[in-house]
Amino acid sequence: MLSNQAADPGKRKSLHGHWSSRMAFILAVTGSAVGLGNIWKFPYVAGQNGGGAFVLVYLACVAIIGLPVMMSEILLGRRGRRNPIATMGLLGAEEGKSENWKVVGAMGVMAGVLILSFYAVIGGWTLAYVFKSASGAFTGASAAEIAAISNRFTGSWMSLGLYHTIFMGLSIFVVARGVERGLEQAVRFMVPALLFLMIVLLAYSINSGYFGQGLEFMFSPDWSKLTWDTVLAAMGQAFFTLSIGMGAVMAYGAYLPEETSISGSSAAVAIADTSIATLAGLVIFPLVFANGLNPGEGPGLVFATLPMAFGQMTGGVIFGTLFFVLLTFAAWTSAISLMEPAVAWIVERFNHTRAQAAMLIGGLIWAAGFGTVLSFNVLADFKFWRGTIFDNLDHLSINIMLPLGGLLIVVFAGWVMCRNSSADELGGAGTIYRLWRVLARFVAPIGILFVFLKAVGLLPDLS
Ligand code: PFF
Repeated sequence: MLSNQAADPGKRKSLHGHWSSRMAFILAVTGSAVGLGNIWKFPYVAGQNGGGAFVLVYLACVAIIGLPVMMSEILLGRRGRRNPIATMGLLGAEEGKSENWKVVGAMGVMAGVLILSFYAVIGGWTLAYVFKSASGAFTGASAAEIAAISNRFTGSWMSLGLYHTIFMGLSIFVVARGVERGLEQAVRFMVPALLFLMIVLLAYSINSGYFGQGLEFMFSPDWSKLTWDTVLAAMGQAFFTLSIGMGAVMAYGAYLPEETSISGSSAAVAIADTSIATLAGLVIFPLVFANGLNPGEGPGLVFATLPMAFGQMTGGVIFGTLFFVLLTFAAWTSAISLMEPAVAWIVERFNHTRAQAAMLIGGLIWAAGFGTVLSFNVLADFKFWRGTIFDNLDHLSINIMLPLGGLLIVVFAGWVMCRNSSADELGGAGTIYRLWRVLARFVAPIGILFVFLKAVGLLPDLS
């Protein structure tokens, strides 16, 4: 497989085409990063983990671990210009080390499949709420009525399964069409529109009378609530929300034009992503307190709070419908990137068409998704290790596989790859390069390893 690679990395081309501009790349990575992780997951994991301390650890993880990992992933992707498995193998061999680094790519492909198997179910839940909002089901509804709507929906494996199926169908459709067509346009419209609606919701939540309480919950840390398991969850959330640690950004980096700045693009994506998650928290927590809900209620939190706000505001049917449409779009552009590493691998390795590969991988993920569909109803009491099937998939993929993938990626970029190669991709050995190298060689790997070892209890407390 390595024989047909150009020896000069600058001359390599991706088989799948390239982004039309730097902006197209930033939009695509932002489309991948901004999704259910920001609006559905961030508020509920922050709520489950006690708020402030979790949020601050998450922000720190984004800045000092997430950014260097993202830059590393993009630089490896662009240098290899192949799917993550082939890229890791090729670069391993090229740097005079082992081709076995492809195992990192393989783990990423697997993580993408596992994540999308539950992500698509929540994507389907979001899609279902487009129709519920449009039908006026939330207008004037009380917290109890909204909870009843949500329970009725997730309680039926057929409803949840139906929308999961539609959502997967949509994702397969776009991936089959290829990286550029459709995706760029969708993201160009979606991210600004989503931001605008979040600001409308923010105005509503500021007026709820509980904004101060929400703010306090989010930002005033109660360090006594922080355990190593919580820190692991905050780190996992940072990886998940930035789409790093599994090769999605590496796959997108493979289509990146040579002259684009990797550090500038990464910073732009991280800022957009973190702002949207923070906004989501600022919208949701005041509503939680205003309506006497429990911030730790779990995956249904967004679906319990936002419909209430829409149900009470003027124009709520329109705003609510639009919001869930946008959230479905956001989930959709992320779902595509979750499939991309696996699809690119099948296309390159087995010579299938994109459409065949998308259907094959998408079909597999669709079937696996029923594990999560059933976790909310028929198998809700079937619990082991971390809880339901969904809880286990979520913990394994987000809190373990992504940080582990990220660890191996920065170690590769920082230690295995020679200085010339990485400096070549990161635009020369200036200050940003030096900062990246310290973070990638020391801060990020040690940080990730430390949190892992602490969370499994392998490092004793010093005090
Ligand atoms: N970043 C996406 C979100 O926040 O919803 C989820 C995601 C997409 C994770 C792509 C990982 C990935 F590779």
